[in-house]
Amino acid sequence: MINLKFDYKNALNFITESEITKFQNGIEKHFESLNNKTGKGNEFLGWMDLPDGIQEEMILDIEAVAEKMRTKSELSVVIGIGGSYLGARAIIESLSHHFHQIKTTNNPIVVYAGQNISEDYLTDLLDILDEKDYTLTVISKSGTTTEPAVAFRLLKAHIENKYGKEDAKERIVAITDGERGALKDLADQEGYKTFIVPDDVGGRYSVLTPVGLLPIAIAGFNIRDLINGAKNMKHYLAKSDKIDDNPVAAYAAARNALYNSGKTTEILVNYEPRLYFFTEWWKQLYGESEGKENKGIFPAGVSFTTDLHSMGQYIQEGLRNIFETVLSVEKPNSELHVPSDEANLDNLNYIAGMPIHEVNHHAETGTTLAHIDGGVPNLKISIPEINENNLGELIYFYELACAVGGYILDVNPFDQPGVEAYKKNMFALLGKPGFEKETEAIRKRL
Ligand code: PA5
Repeated sequence: MINLKFDYKNALNFITESEITKFQNGIEKHFESLNNKTGKGNEFLGWMDLPDGIQEEMILDIEAVAEKMRTKSELSVVIGIGGSYLGARAIIESLSHHFHQIKTTNNPIVVYAGQNISEDYLTDLLDILDEKDYTLTVISKSGTTTEPAVAFRLLKAHIENKYGKEDAKERIVAITDGERGALKDLADQEGYKTFIVPDDVGGRYSVLTPVGLLPIAIAGFNIRDLINGAKNMKHYLAKSDKIDDNPVAAYAAARNALYNSGKTTEILVNYEPRLYFFTEWWKQLYGESEGKENKGIFPAGVSFTTDLHSMGQYIQEGLRNIFETVLSVEKPNSELHVPSDEANLDNLNYIAGMPIHEVNHHAETGTTLAHIDGGVPNLKISIPEINENNLGELIYFYELACAVGGYILDVNPFDQPGVEAYKKNMFALLGKPGFEKETEAIRKRL
């Protein structure tokens, strides 16, 4: 059994059951071509087998390296961008104390670099690294991405200067391609501990490889439970390819029926601020996988109730091309009630004694109904609580649904040709050797 539940009943004012079930035959074929590895991008299907395929030896290695890094770190820096950082951050932030940056725990604080090229961000990071004991995990599948390379060049110099070259070497782990790339060459030359990103797993599908698992373990979370959650989901989904029994089939069908009805933006809604980066991970997964050939559902995200006071107006009454998918959490991990107050000057005694989560839950139900009344269909994915197992279920659920969604749109969900356009211009502007023609052309446009 799985814990995740999916429900599309609140979309049925907008689309009919038959508009959803008409995807059934196509979805069966898409599951088949994923399982037989015959569809578009079939050289990147390694993620499908990760929950079962990850070897005990690999888990032990990751746990041992994480433990070593933990003993050396007040702070641990994860360098990477896109799929080489969002999965780890999504899980770490979902499981962490909300104030983990300032709360003292036995876990190192995980911070991130290489996900931007901001001079001020990097300066502030170096400032903090002057004061704290730290370790570095540098992640780049290609080993050639500019953002993490710039960050690593700075941090490598800093860590060597702080600890000396030999000790620094013990504080750095590289996760990259097994055969090629500048990071692979550098790691070999410097003798860093290295983990390999499998060839057949793309960045945004790599959270269950060392790319996600090592930082998550460094942060102190249980990677075995995460993997088990994904494994349960994988096995459950394999039992049926029917929309009625398979939540991936149902989600893929419902969101594409909505897309066909003109709802071209999907907003992933959470009511738990810890899920902010989970939403960011989801946005990358769906945006980079589906958004091509002038097609694709635009993935957006909001955190309620916070964003009800900023985006709520638009969602209620703006352009009617949106639908919402609520990622609902049934139970909090803690217990806190609205206190009673004799003076009742704030008039809140009518909810005195009520768990805060219940207030949040009523906000969720009330918002869902208001948005439906305003013309926004609603899909709901719920989990009983936020923990490693349920996040593992969600990862596999969303990855498989994304692959099926890409096939429904008839695009390759595993490539990202569009990401190269900005890189080409940036390299031309920076004067990268080999880009001379592009440099000349782009300078004329300025
Ligand atoms: O999902 C993807 O493939 C991308 O987001 C990459 O992960 C991202 O561009 C970083 O690439 P790399 O790991 O090669 O540095």
